[in-house]
Amino acid sequence: MQETKYIYLFRYDTTESLLCKLESKYLFNKEEKNKQLFSEVKIEPSVSAFIKTRLDVILFSSDYERLIEQIKEKNIRTDGFKVEYLILTGDTTRNSERLSKLRDVGYSIDTYPDYHNPTIIYGLCSYGGVWYFGIIRKNNCEWQQHKQKPYTYSNSIKQNIAKALVNIAAGSIHNVKLLDACCGAGTIMLEACFTKYDIEGCDISWKTCKNARANLSHFNYTAHVHFSDIKDIVGQYDAAIIDLPYNLYSPATDDDILNIIKATAKISDRLVIVSTANIEDKIQNTGLMLLDYCKVSKPGKSNFTRNIWVCE
Ligand SMILES: C[S@@+](CC[C@H](N)C(=O)[O-])C[C@H]1O[C@@H](n2cnc3c(N)ncnc32)[C@H](O)[C@@H]1O
Repeated sequence: MQETKYIYLFRYDTTESLLCKLESKYLFNKEEKNKQLFSEVKIEPSVSAFIKTRLDVILFSSDYERLIEQIKEKNIRTDGFKVEYLILTGDTTRNSERLSKLRDVGYSIDTYPDYHNPTIIYGLCSYGGVWYFGIIRKNNCEWQQHKQKPYTYSNSIKQNIAKALVNIAAGSIHNVKLLDACCGAGTIMLEACFTKYDIEGCDISWKTCKNARANLSHFNYTAHVHFSDIKDIVGQYDAAIIDLPYNLYSPATDDDILNIIKATAKISDRLVIVSTANIEDKIQNTGLMLLDYCKVSKPGKSNFTRNIWVCE
């Protein structure tokens, strides 16, 4: 029986499935499968738009009765608890049986429950013949407040994608220094700041920079926004995200795109490039090494695709 520290459950639209897998590869060094993942890596659920719940495993056993005994032996004394059942792939336990098992766990905890305002939520689940008991941590979704940012553009990136880009760029790099090379309204910067990453932004448009700064200060985040062409930025970054310009708001020629990529590659070790067009050939011609690729479309709008490449 394999010891597991954390069990993660994911939630995403089918159009975001490949992006979620790419994100989990960089966060956990392992792709999620069937919207769940067992890992030794501890990630705060709200760091990702896709992680719904994390179960911090306290006890596990292939023998359900033994697990209940172990819970009793723990002498848990936290008042105001609640117990929830997490349904994992392959678990065919019927609803009535699940409720009865929740009662078993509840009666094994010697304090008063609070179903409405619990101080702690315990979780029970079964996978591959093993029963797990632990503490549930949920995505607090506070980052969704960023949707109310004062300024946005038609070419601003979707929040779920922005969060994933930050995680793919930062991966498991300790004290990572990030750059949002074409920051626009700062959607990506907001998500990086939420996770307390060190990020700087850059945009060639003065007004856009002003609006990105206003968005950041609206949420009390501090991050520097350079009003500059990316080619004039000096510094060194562990990773840069480039949400390449497109549409009437930020028109760009093929040469502009190539120059932005080349300039960013000079000052960053890893690049996460986003484009509405398939520019894989162009990226390869710059000499960058392609590590990963995925595409994501808008739910209900499969003809609007964003291509994402990870390069070094
Ligand atoms: C697709 S938008 C970025 C949108 C942004 N991620 C957001 O969510 O608002 C691309 C941005 O690149 C900027 N840009 C274009 N050429 C640039 C350059 N050479 N250096 C820096 N920024 C540039 C544009 O002004 C535009 O704001």
